[in-house]
Amino acid sequence: MDNRSIHGMWSSRLAFILAATGSAVGLGNIWRFPYMASDNGGGAFVLVYLGCVALVALPILFAELAIGRRGRRSPINTLLDVSREDGTSRRWSGLGWLGILAGVLILSFYSVVAGWTLHYAWLYLMQLFGGTGITDPGATFGELLSNPRELIFWHAVFMAMTVMVVALGVEKGLERSVKLLMPALLLMLLALLGYSVSTGHVGEAATFLFKPDFGKITPGVVLSAMGQAFFSLSLGMCAMMTYGAYLPRDVSIPRVGVAVALADTGIALLAGLAIFPIVIEFLGTPTGGGAGLIFTSLPSAFNKMGAVFGLLFFVLLSVAAWTSSISLLEPASAYLVERGWNRKRAALAMALLCWGLGLFSALGFNVLSGIRPLGQDSILDATNLIANDILLPVGGLLIAIYAGWRLNRQRLREQMHGAPGWVYTIWIWLLRVVAPLAVTAVLVVKLYDAIQRI
Ligand code: TRP
Repeated sequence: MDNRSIHGMWSSRLAFILAATGSAVGLGNIWRFPYMASDNGGGAFVLVYLGCVALVALPILFAELAIGRRGRRSPINTLLDVSREDGTSRRWSGLGWLGILAGVLILSFYSVVAGWTLHYAWLYLMQLFGGTGITDPGATFGELLSNPRELIFWHAVFMAMTVMVVALGVEKGLERSVKLLMPALLLMLLALLGYSVSTGHVGEAATFLFKPDFGKITPGVVLSAMGQAFFSLSLGMCAMMTYGAYLPRDVSIPRVGVAVALADTGIALLAGLAIFPIVIEFLGTPTGGGAGLIFTSLPSAFNKMGAVFGLLFFVLLSVAAWTSSISLLEPASAYLVERGWNRKRAALAMALLCWGLGLFSALGFNVLSGIRPLGQDSILDATNLIANDILLPVGGLLIAIYAGWRLNRQRLREQMHGAPGWVYTIWIWLLRVVAPLAVTAVLVVKLYDAIQRI
């Protein structure tokens, strides 16, 4: 198969690592990970999470990258080409369609939440110029959710930022933006961490995050941790497969895969170490934050710390979300380009589709708040349930089976060059047995749970 993708290629190993880390590090790390750890017993959750990353997520990440690099096209066509070459069923391309569906659904609500962060960044910026700022965080969040115009506006701004990058293509859009944004993200995180260290509560935060209380490891914690590992590493919807399609031949997949997983996990933990000391200092306890931890608890702290910190934090979160959302839009756009569309049009069309769907999530907090699909609290939660809890695990399961059981071993081994024999063997067995069993268990319980709630 071709040595280059028609969409362009990452110019170096570092460019790929930045792009893939940019995809992985997002709202999942800075908004979701801390509150999930907070709700699920701190250290118990973190420990299980690390296990899920190493034993399930990492092998699937390698598989997505290896399949992507073999096909060098958008997921649907990559799976068609690879299946043809290896004599497996063409129906595996359905996995690519599933991925595109998941990506569209996730981007639709991801962009709404990212819009909240833009709105908050804007409020803090205005405060620096004399605006009133966020005096009553609970009320501000409530007002935002009840205001359709505000929600839709910021959702649109964020989607426009995403299209802009994807429309410019792999080299001039994706790669150039991550080379600028990822170092900025790290600097902002370190600045925040510096403040947190100065509160003197980092020790407590670390104990909360790292001291495992084995009694707190329940099946529910394992499920949440596994779902979070998939979401955080952008797995299960062929986003990483798409990024793998642009990966130069000589780069070692195991090495860059491990680098991306370490960076993603490291940033989630650093975010926890930056956020919890602030929460402890101003609110007294690290637990019970819920999804509002970032949008209500932290702003109370920022009121005392100063608007600059609020601005810093929400710009950081917006940037993290931005480099992730481009990886949600890229696979579907690349597919349209392969069907002969011009890239700008393709990106715009897909973004409009996601934006339109996202309106339901945005309106679900106000005009449509009476609609509670699937027994969830809101339309956004229901979309999240379908995409994150069902489509991503199904996608991950299929990827593990396809790579582990169906693909030609020789050609797969070639993609894993740089891995010693024993690494390869462990990988194949994690892919064949451990990942499918673990993911199936999660799926069964989640489905059962979802059905119970309806
Ligand atoms: N990983 C991102 C985060 O943590 C979100 C994301 C980007 C994603 N691309 C994805 C999640 C693909 C699942 C699949 O916020």
